[in-house]
Amino acid sequence: MPLVYGALLGDHAEGRVSRVTLYDTDADRLTAVARVLAEQGRDIADAPVVVATTELDEALRGADFVFSAIRVGGLAGRAADERVALDEGVLGQETVGAGGIAYGLRTVPVALGLARRIARLAPRAWVINFTNPAGLVTEAMSRHLGDRVIGICDSPVGLGRRIARALGADPDRAWIDYAGLNHLGWVRGLYVDGRDELPRLLDDPKLLESFEEGRLFGAELLRSLGAIPNEYLHYYYVNREAVRAYQKAERTRGAFLQDQQEGFYARMREPGTPARETWDRTRAEREATYMAENREVAGAGAREASDLESGGYEQVALALMRAVARNERTSLILNVRNRTTLPVLDADAVVEVPCLVDANGAHPVSVSPLPYHAVGLVTAVKAVERAVLEAAESGSRATAVQAFALHPLVDSVTVARRLLDRYTEVHPGLAYLDRA
Ligand code: G6P
Ligand code: MN
Repeated sequence: MPLVYGALLGDHAEGRVSRVTLYDTDADRLTAVARVLAEQGRDIADAPVVVATTELDEALRGADFVFSAIRVGGLAGRAADERVALDEGVLGQETVGAGGIAYGLRTVPVALGLARRIARLAPRAWVINFTNPAGLVTEAMSRHLGDRVIGICDSPVGLGRRIARALGADPDRAWIDYAGLNHLGWVRGLYVDGRDELPRLLDDPKLLESFEEGRLFGAELLRSLGAIPNEYLHYYYVNREAVRAYQKAERTRGAFLQDQQEGFYARMREPGTPARETWDRTRAEREATYMAENREVAGAGAREASDLESGGYEQVALALMRAVARNERTSLILNVRNRTTLPVLDADAVVEVPCLVDANGAHPVSVSPLPYHAVGLVTAVKAVERAVLEAAESGSRATAVQAFALHPLVDSVTVARRLLDRYTEVHPGLAYLDRA
């Protein structure tokens, strides 16, 4: 929220956002975040007014845009998603594999409820979904909101920017041919003045290993794929080593973030704590340790300074809002319903692809066809997402087992059954799945 508010503070154009309503179920958290925003806006004359409420309906009424960033079960829930999977010998991660399925099964029912409420109270609002697993949650919400819900992620932008920089191109002038699902996509081309510059990069191992994804995957793999995968594909392509590294880690990512967040709110309760500074420090630490185990496995070293700066999520969110609110046409990689963009998926499947955005919303543009290796993963993971959606709507335990069992990173139906048993033990939010 402070990142998004920071982006709003930098927008002085006519029609900018003038009022922000913060909604949270936790009043303490609201107070702390409101303090950070107040410090951010202190010396800015046209800073958007901030109001806070613990009443959802109050927050929704009259809204032009709804930003949805929720964490069902909190960070303790995330830590449990990760721990249970790692204990069963499979990947424990927020959005990928078994952990992502557990998180999805808990989040989808809540996201559906939220979408129904928005459709009733703010039917004309555009909904920007940040909630992970972002593609799955956007697809769930689209069942009530149609194309008025748009999912965003900063990883394709970050990837595009890093590739453009490696090529010495201006990221703002480059057209990126990117396609897939959220956290499961590939850059297949990067065009500058109508010329694809990606082959030049793929032919140059030194240049390839000059940026994060090149170091994570290695020049040889990228060259043979003819594409640059999203960093989250490291969990697939280097799965065994990633699982081991995560099993060996002292805490899961979720447990680390839980400790960090508890520390942040504890400091914010002490009188005189500088809110913004405390928040900035917390964020910097979070950024610096992002995907640390994967980078260690790959021998990729520390993150680059440019990757630690902000400019991802909040700039995508702001650009999207401006394009919609003021018909300022732009292109962004977003999570939207497929229509006919990726012919291997149906029209309602939410995909992550380049879109043209204007006052009528986000329109996916045509991309080159997915190569078979990508078709395999994208269709397999979409089948998993569909099983999660079906289980969330029907409450069927068998369908939930199917979701785990079908995932390419879960290697046995027996493991799938045990995972669901363990997850239902630790997550009260999964009680809706029957034992039939
Ligand atoms: C990236 C991903 C997001 C994720 C964020 C934070 O930006 O695209 O989906 O929420 O990292 O990850 P973390 O592990 O720090 O929660
Ligand atoms: Mn993301």
